[in-house]
Amino acid sequence: MPHLAPALLLLLATGAPPPATDGVAVWRRPATGAKPAPVVVGWSSLKLEERTTRDVQLGVERSYRGVTLKALLLAAAQRTPSEDTALLHFKNGMVVPVPLDEATLGRLDLFVARVVKDGTGAFVERFDNVVHERSPWMEQRAITFGTNKLVAKDAFHPGLAAGTTKFTPWAHVDTLTGVELVNAAALNQTMRVSSDARVLQGLGVFEQRCQYCHGVRGTGASFGWDFVKPIPVHTWRDAESLLYHVKFRKLAGAEQGLLMPPQPDTTIDEVRALWEWMKAVSANELRPYAP
Ligand code: HEC
Repeated sequence: MPHLAPALLLLLATGAPPPATDGVAVWRRPATGAKPAPVVVGWSSLKLEERTTRDVQLGVERSYRGVTLKALLLAAAQRTPSEDTALLHFKNGMVVPVPLDEATLGRLDLFVARVVKDGTGAFVERFDNVVHERSPWMEQRAITFGTNKLVAKDAFHPGLAAGTTKFTPWAHVDTLTGVELVNAAALNQTMRVSSDARVLQGLGVFEQRCQYCHGVRGTGASFGWDFVKPIPVHTWRDAESLLYHVKFRKLAGAEQGLLMPPQPDTTIDEVRALWEWMKAVSANELRPYAP
């Protein structure tokens, strides 16, 4: 296995998923303290299928060759019964959880595309950049892709708050680099740093709206800033200012190349609870992962 060694080294060095130059790394999260043991599923070991599907990032249909997330998981390892969720790790630092039950997997129907059919009918390894909502005052940096692209057919994600229509993590993901198998309840326990009801409500808001892009204490997603380190967010934004940050786009976002999407349906009640959780998780270490 020529590509396994560098992948392992990288994982040991940083705890981050290895780069997916010739495949996707799959591993199970070990109990706290143990080292993860990734298996790199190389593209050469997978049977690619062709699929014409709507791509939620482009808003149009495209023909891709690649594999379903399900096929990728089957090629990697047998899941243990306690592993009910896959954390999808992306090149840009996003981490998106996907429950692995049949109904959800069927509804999501995620496809890991390796090549795309271009205008001439040839399959090429070059995915179109994605730029969201161009306007005179809002031109964001483009999402670019490496050797694969995760294609979601629509905005659906089972973890979003009911009624969320303007935000979906799938609009922002790029290249799939790793799949981490976890037990969702055990993962949630690591972030229950207090038993206060308001704090726990805030954790729920984090999980529904922020965890795809932000982590805490060096754990979780790293597309946006860590909420605790080096500077705890709650110390420099009060709940009102945090609400405006989440709800609206920045006027200077274009010049600054900002990428955080607005979530216009966010309420002050949610953000006040979220702020309480941010404060609690800044004062307390995460709890051990004990599946
Ligand atoms: C799709 C990814 C994404 C989601 C979801 C997301 N953010 Fe961000 N966030 C970013 C990125 C990227 C940045 C870095 C600045 C930028 O590019 O906009 C950022 C920056 C921030 C910052 C630091 C910048 C500042 O001006 O204070 C805060 C605070 C923040 N986000 C809070 C949140 C909160 C709270 C949520 C959930 C309610 C959230 N974000 C959801 C991507 C995201």
